[in-house]
Amino acid sequence: MIDSIAVRVPAKVNAQLAVGGRRPDGFHDLANVFLAVGLYDEITVTPADELRITVEGPDADQVPRDRTNLAARAAELLAARHGIEPRVHLHIAKDIPVAGGMAGGSADGAGALLACDALWNTGATREELLDICAELGSDVPFSLVGGAALGRGRGELLTPLTVGGTFHWVFAVADGGLSTPAVYGECDRLRAERGAGDTIDDVPAPEPSAALLDALRAGDATALAAALTAGPDGSSNDLQAAAVSLRPSLADTLRAGTEAGALASLVSGSGPTCAFLAKDAAGAEQVATALAASGTCRTARVAASPAAGATVVREDRRAPSA
Ligand code: C5P
Repeated sequence: MIDSIAVRVPAKVNAQLAVGGRRPDGFHDLANVFLAVGLYDEITVTPADELRITVEGPDADQVPRDRTNLAARAAELLAARHGIEPRVHLHIAKDIPVAGGMAGGSADGAGALLACDALWNTGATREELLDICAELGSDVPFSLVGGAALGRGRGELLTPLTVGGTFHWVFAVADGGLSTPAVYGECDRLRAERGAGDTIDDVPAPEPSAALLDALRAGDATALAAALTAGPDGSSNDLQAAAVSLRPSLADTLRAGTEAGALASLVSGSGPTCAFLAKDAAGAEQVATALAASGTCRTARVAASPAAGATVVREDRRAPSA
């Protein structure tokens, strides 16, 4: 009998986040180039009397323990589909920044789903798991599959991408998070303010950058850096201006990374984490040391991409009773 199952799930950075106009349902169509990076949460599931969540890690106090936690919702959705009572203890060892624009909450949803599926042996297909992920949130399917992928629709319709090498990143973690809906709302507001409109009829449909996809395929950091900083706002991330508008100090963080020798500096997803592409592993260490000393972030972490998606890393089996 299985006693507990642990699943490791990566964070993500968006190499490109092209955001279309607001749809009637409030979401935005995207051309979202996801890259999984080697910073991980680990979710352990154990049978229990009732569904409960515990969290460990430096920002554990900022993580909800109630049913708003995507890990709890994942367990409930899977259980409901298979006529199971979700009586599990979900323990989250949190290393991905909370509300940081790195899909930490999505990672916990995907991880809990995979762990509960293995514990309950539901026999769910990969398609069913991906369906549940999409119901949980736009970024959750990518947390399950990892690697690199183009996300269309609101980000949930994935096509795998080929990456021809390892990219080395530094992530500047901010004090406190940013709300994703607030950042999308600020993006709409800035567009409306410019006078061009902010709806799906006003904004050109988002398209992936051919130069960026070529750079990924070639594993070419210099070419990727050029593609990351192309575009009208000097960033492949259409949410960057909105995140900086809500948190102006991010401009100092981005500048500090560039001054420290990063090939490219951009806000990660909806922020406030900032991502810096380095030439190689040694370059990343150097940028991280300079950023940590700059006083413009709480901490700087190095991580490489691409990284594998949600993976079972441990299965503890109870000894059979005599
Ligand atoms: O899908 P998810 O629950 O992660 O989205 C959180 C919020 O982010 C949505 O309610 C919406 O405000 C915004 N969002 C969006 N367009 C997307 C993805 C997210 O407007 N493609």
